Amino acid sequence: MGGLKTTRELIELCHINKDKYVLDVGCGVGATPCYLAKRYGCRVVGVDISERMIDRSNERAKREGVENRVKFRLADAQNLPFEDALFDVVIGESVTTFLEDKQRAVSEYVRVIKPGGYVGLNEETWIKTPPPTELVEYATRTWDIKAEIPTSDRWEELLEGSGLRDIVVRTYKINVLGEFSQIRRYSFKDLLRMLYRTLSLYRSSAFRRYMKERLPTPKNLFEYLRYGIYVGRK
Ligand SMILES: C[S@@+](CC[C@H](N)C(=O)[O-])C[C@H]1O[C@@H](n2cnc3c(N)ncnc32)[C@H](O)[C@@H]1O
Repeated sequence: MGGLKTTRELIELCHINKDKYVLDVGCGVGATPCYLAKRYGCRVVGVDISERMIDRSNERAKREGVENRVKFRLADAQNLPFEDALFDVVIGESVTTFLEDKQRAVSEYVRVIKPGGYVGLNEETWIKTPPPTELVEYATRTWDIKAEIPTSDRWEELLEGSGLRDIVVRTYKINVLGEFSQIRRYSFKDLLRMLYRTLSLYRSSAFRRYMKERLPTPKNLFEYLRYGIYVGRK
């Protein structure tokens, strides 16, 4: 959410520079780890629960010539396979929202950073509460979010509850058209792959039914739903 502009905001709030060792949880196709290595020259590890995402991330790192500084690994954000106090910063973009045990995940992020290190998250947030039941159902169904989407107060509590301090909370409106501009972060090959996959899926009537149930987006959804940046220091 918020694209590269928001990633840069997180980078700034987490004080990332070339000397920092960064972990990106739920790295997807590896866009942020490769950007960090290329633009800031730091060492980065990206983890994701999906093997396919790890393959895409490795391809990207190779293509962008940053394999020496970026490594990817299959792992669950709620059970990180790293020793305590290994990293300077953990970032997570649109990942912790999807996790059932958010407190455990945030505690894992805190465990693997050094004292004085930062955790920075960019996550979906209910801003007006309580959200109408149909909106909660829509969000759960459409984005396959099995867990609850927290409010900004709840996100703040999750960070505090894991021992972080100097917490920064900033929430932003979701600009649907602006979100489409994120497409620039993906390579031509990634876009072709997405297009091919969507077209192949559309040949199945079950998928067409699935999409019909999810469209259109309820008009009032973005009155209630925003995205938030949550940063804290250990
Ligand atoms: C919405 S995508 C965001 C990807 C990336 N952070 C970005 O902003 O482009 C969510 C990612 O989280 C990963 N994910 C979901 N559950 C996870 C878990 N328990 N541990 C690690 N990654 C997970 C998914 O495989 C997916 O790649």
